[in-house]
Amino acid sequence: MSAKIETRVELPLSPEPSGKRKPDPCALVIFGASGDLTHRKLIPALYALEYRGLLPENFAVIGVARSENSTESWRKQMRAAVTEFGRDEMREDVWKRLAAGMHYVSTDFSSAGGETEVMKLLEQLDKERGTAGNRVYYLAVPPSAIRTVVDKLGERRRPEGWMRLIVEKPFGHDLASAKALNDDIVTHFAENEIFRIDHYLGKETVQNVLAFRFANGIFEPIWNRRYVDSVQITVAESIGIENRAGFYEQAGAIRDVVQNHMLQLLALTAMEPPADFEADAVRNEKIKVVRSIAPPDPAYIVRGQYGPGKIGGEKVPGYREEPGVAPDSNTETYVALKVFLDNWRWAGTPFYLRTGKHLSSRATTIVILFRPAPHPPFLEIAGEGLRPNVLVIHVQPDEGISIRIGAKVPGQGMTIQPVQLDFQYDRAFHVQLPEAYEKLILDAMLGDATLFTRIDEVEAQWSFVDSVVSQWEGAKPDFPNYAAGSSGPKSADAMMARDDRLWCQ
Ligand SMILES: NC(=O)c1ccc[n+]([C@@H]2O[C@H](COP(=O)([O-])OP(=O)(O)OC[C@H]3O[C@@H](n4cnc5c(N)ncnc54)[C@H](OP(=O)(O)O)[C@@H]3O)[C@@H](O)[C@H]2O)c1
Repeated sequence: MSAKIETRVELPLSPEPSGKRKPDPCALVIFGASGDLTHRKLIPALYALEYRGLLPENFAVIGVARSENSTESWRKQMRAAVTEFGRDEMREDVWKRLAAGMHYVSTDFSSAGGETEVMKLLEQLDKERGTAGNRVYYLAVPPSAIRTVVDKLGERRRPEGWMRLIVEKPFGHDLASAKALNDDIVTHFAENEIFRIDHYLGKETVQNVLAFRFANGIFEPIWNRRYVDSVQITVAESIGIENRAGFYEQAGAIRDVVQNHMLQLLALTAMEPPADFEADAVRNEKIKVVRSIAPPDPAYIVRGQYGPGKIGGEKVPGYREEPGVAPDSNTETYVALKVFLDNWRWAGTPFYLRTGKHLSSRATTIVILFRPAPHPPFLEIAGEGLRPNVLVIHVQPDEGISIRIGAKVPGQGMTIQPVQLDFQYDRAFHVQLPEAYEKLILDAMLGDATLFTRIDEVEAQWSFVDSVVSQWEGAKPDFPNYAAGSSGPKSADAMMARDDRLWCQ
């Protein structure tokens, strides 16, 4: 009798990975403490970390903003924010531990001496809470406010302890402004102290692209132009611009999503295996991908803007009717592109990228379409059911991975039908996925920059975006060209039809 091979795998149920490291004692200073990001993401992320015992025992948070507020009322507001936006239940013991180290300072760093109170409080917290002179500065402020804050922080640098700076996206508006912003920052901070955030990289499913590709030997031989027909990366949003007209009018879909999230997904999908999982090894490989993107053919760039329509049965206005948007705005709320990578692995394989606001559904996916089987012996009889294999990485929602294969329909004859092999995070691991900001804040405290964007990558991203945007100069787009709640402009479908392809839903 042959030995039985165990093919079922016991899945770990522990919510935390083994070997977790705790950061050094430190103080986290959040600039922009009265803003949306602090309420919805940062403080709930800190609570989730405290809940799991991942914050250092000697820890403090200082919220800084110009708005008048007191520590007491800021703590109350942040508690309400955790209750509303956090992923865990409110536990008094956890909240008390976190809140005891939370302070609010109302000040304007652009005024003379505006930083004094924050610096004094930091020194006091070093003594009272043992934060040891270590600082994480989180810039959750508009880009225009960054320079002043960074200059003051740099001038007040002390020899003891370490200093790290987390800078929110967008990092610049184009290549020139990104370089200028970086020049300001590197006057005071070394590259290994700068943590440029693209929160997509903190998502479990995005990191799983690396695990999927490099922890599973079976995919490597087919992960190239010989076996892959094409790749589609979609970041579809059903929400509109949500009162962010001031920002969005200047950015549009290409700067808001393509420059950062989409190019990150493209890089992780197409990169070569890094020699190790250290920050620089991973980032070196990602940068090579972004640098290898050929300037896209203008015939394969589609831009769109939503007009009035319906989302979830509710009427919504067109982009040009949104508060704060110019009635003749030419800002794009949708982009679709075909790009090629000028490298050995992917030469000639099209990568289709698309993103848009107020689309029919919210979904971020990476779809790998494989070439058809070279000679299926039952092609004639199997007919329509014989479709190429498709691998879909569902980044959000319904996080997981599915593979479409052809299977024989039970019964007489050789009828083939596509069926799906599914891996779903929640079913496999029985845990709630952590929020991206939890991972990223913790990594910055630990000094691990793997999931942050290095300046050369930012520059490569902007070079690509600039090469697209420069093609739009002077052109008058026919906006609006898709209805809110639809799947986007018809011209994006026509672009695929020209290549004899369809968007995968
Ligand atoms: N919200 C998100 O989900 C999200 C996601 C990704 C990236 N981001 C980025 O994160 C940053 C903050 O976003 P947000 O949504 O929180 O914006 P927000 O709600 O408008 O808040 C901005 C914060 O910055 C402060 N601020 C504004 N102008 C300032 C100035 N000149 N000097 C100093 N402080 C100033 C504001 O406080 P005072 O007016 O009281 O000083 C407020 O606390 C932005 O760069 C944004 O692009 C946000």
